[in-house]
Amino acid sequence: MLAAKNRPAAAIPCSGVARGKHMASKAQSIKLNEHGYKVLTLGRYSFSRDEYFAHIRWPGGSHLMPVDRFLRALMRDVAWNFFYGIVNFDEVFGTVNHYGTVDVFAGLFNAGYRSQNKHFVENLDGELARATFSQMLEDWTIEGFDPFAAPEETGLPFGPKRGNNQRAVTRKRVVAQRMVGLKDDTPVRTDANGYTVNRQFADVAQDEPQVHAEPGFEDEVHAFNFFAYLSRSDVTWNPSVCAVVKDAMLCPTTEEFALPVIHGNDRVEWFVQLSDEIHWEIADRDTGVPRARAVMKPGDVCAMPADIRHQGFSPKRSMLLVWENGDAKLPELYATGQLKPHPIEF
Ligand code: PHB
Ligand code: FE
Repeated sequence: MLAAKNRPAAAIPCSGVARGKHMASKAQSIKLNEHGYKVLTLGRYSFSRDEYFAHIRWPGGSHLMPVDRFLRALMRDVAWNFFYGIVNFDEVFGTVNHYGTVDVFAGLFNAGYRSQNKHFVENLDGELARATFSQMLEDWTIEGFDPFAAPEETGLPFGPKRGNNQRAVTRKRVVAQRMVGLKDDTPVRTDANGYTVNRQFADVAQDEPQVHAEPGFEDEVHAFNFFAYLSRSDVTWNPSVCAVVKDAMLCPTTEEFALPVIHGNDRVEWFVQLSDEIHWEIADRDTGVPRARAVMKPGDVCAMPADIRHQGFSPKRSMLLVWENGDAKLPELYATGQLKPHPIEF
C-alpha cells in the first residue's frame, strides 16, 4: 500500500523487505575494480562504477544510472547534508533525511517497485552515509569533471579512472550566519577572490549600493548588490544561504540545464524567479504521479507544496531565489496534518 498523503516518508511501512537498522560506525574495506574505481559498501548496499554507469546493488535487487547524472546528484546530497526531506537521484534511488539518520532507499517512492514489494530501505547513521558518499564522490569524479558546473562549462566524467577534481568536489556550500558581506560573515564575490562574472550574466550591473550608517551601527546596517553577487556564482542548482532571520533563509541560486535531483519536500518551499525562465515538473511525492507543470518567468512567485516532488529545467542560466524555513518542527506538523501541505487557498 502506498503511503497516505502527509504521512512522513519515514513512516511508510516497508512491506516487501525488512527495514534494515545498520548503524555501523566504520566504513568497510575498499577495493578497486578493473576500471580503477573504488567499490564501496554502505550497510547492505554496494556501489561501483564503470566507464559509463554507476551500479547500485542491494539484497534482492540492483539498479544503474548514467554516471554523470549519478555524480551530479551525489554532489548535492553530500554538499547539502541530505537536504530537506527526500533527494531522489532518479525514479528509483535516493535518500530521506531524518536529520541525524538517513534512509537510503531503492524503489521506495516508485509505484511499480511498491506494488511488487521490490523496494528496499535501510536506515543509516547520517555521518557514516555522508562519509561513504563523500569518498565515492572524490574517487569517482575524474580530472576535468565538475559535478556542480553547468554541462557546457565542464568536461565529461566517462572512461577509466583518470586523476580527480578535489577542488570541485570539496567545495563548501555558502552558509551566511546573518548576511553575505557583513563583518565576520561569508564575503561578497569579486574578481579578486576568484569569482568572475558568468558568461551568461555579462549584462548584470556590478555597482554596489552606498551605505551610510550612523556611528556605532557600521556592522549592523548593510546592503550588497544581490544580482551582481549571483552573476558571479560558479555553480548551478546549489542554493546558498545568503541572508538569515531566525528560521527564514534566503537561498538564491543560479540554474542552467536540469536540476540533477528530484526533490521530495517535507515542508513548503517558496520560489521567486529573479531572471530568465525555469520549467518545473511537479508530481505526487510518494507515487510520482504527475500533478502540474509550472513555467516561471521573471517576477513569478510560487509555493511548492509540502507533499510533492519537483524537478526544474532552465534552458539558459537563470537566477532563482529559494526561501526555506529551517524550523525543525515542520516535517512533523505537515506529516500529521496539523499544517496543510499548501500555504494558501484561492
Ligand atoms: C529544490 O529542490 O527546491 C531546489 C534544489 C536546488 C535548486 C533549486 C531548488 O537549485
Ligand atoms: Fe525543493
